[in-house]
Amino acid sequence: MRKRKSVAILISGRGSNMAALIDAANRYGFPAEITLVISNRPDAKGLAFAAANGIATVVLDHKLFDSREKFDEALQKMLEALRIDIVCLAGFMRILSDGFVEKWRGRMINIHPSLLPEFKGLDTHARALAAGAKKHGCTVHFVVPELDAGPVILQAEVPVEAGDDEAKLGARVLQQEHRIYPIALRMLATDEVRLEGDRVVRSG
Ligand code: GRF
Repeated sequence: MRKRKSVAILISGRGSNMAALIDAANRYGFPAEITLVISNRPDAKGLAFAAANGIATVVLDHKLFDSREKFDEALQKMLEALRIDIVCLAGFMRILSDGFVEKWRGRMINIHPSLLPEFKGLDTHARALAAGAKKHGCTVHFVVPELDAGPVILQAEVPVEAGDDEAKLGARVLQQEHRIYPIALRMLATDEVRLEGDRVVRSG
């Protein structure tokens, strides 16, 4: 059997998408293993779940670094030391420097709670409701220097229902996030999807 791809997940908080990826990778035959979880916040709730699943966790507190570049250098060293193949951003609330992003081009993915290119940035559910959107959802995409602009791997759509508020709509989207993020990781780990220039190429 081909060697499983080694994955690092970067989080800043709750880590429910991280947990979905860990659960998927724990299943027999998943083509990637979660080697490391890194949080830029010492109080990230997700760290406990990762540790309880026997995964190495590291806190890289961005407040202890003089610059974004210094933080990213430390991150890069850690990823190289552990021979990480793929980086998954999962609620990671820090902008990464262009140099770092370029190094991981095609090997770093993110989940965003909207149907990109709609509603880039924060507060996506409130904004979808305010805009009167009829459908909403989530996107897994390759990470490029421009925020929430990378080529799309997978999307899942949910309806916006009468009586929805931010919490209800957010919960409906989150369920889909947990479903599609592991599928997207599987696709990347098996080369079923790859980035060529700015284009997502699919095979299989
Ligand atoms: C998710 O909605 C994700 O799409 C966004 O931030 C949120 C993180 O939630 N990028 P969690 O930490 O994965 O629970």
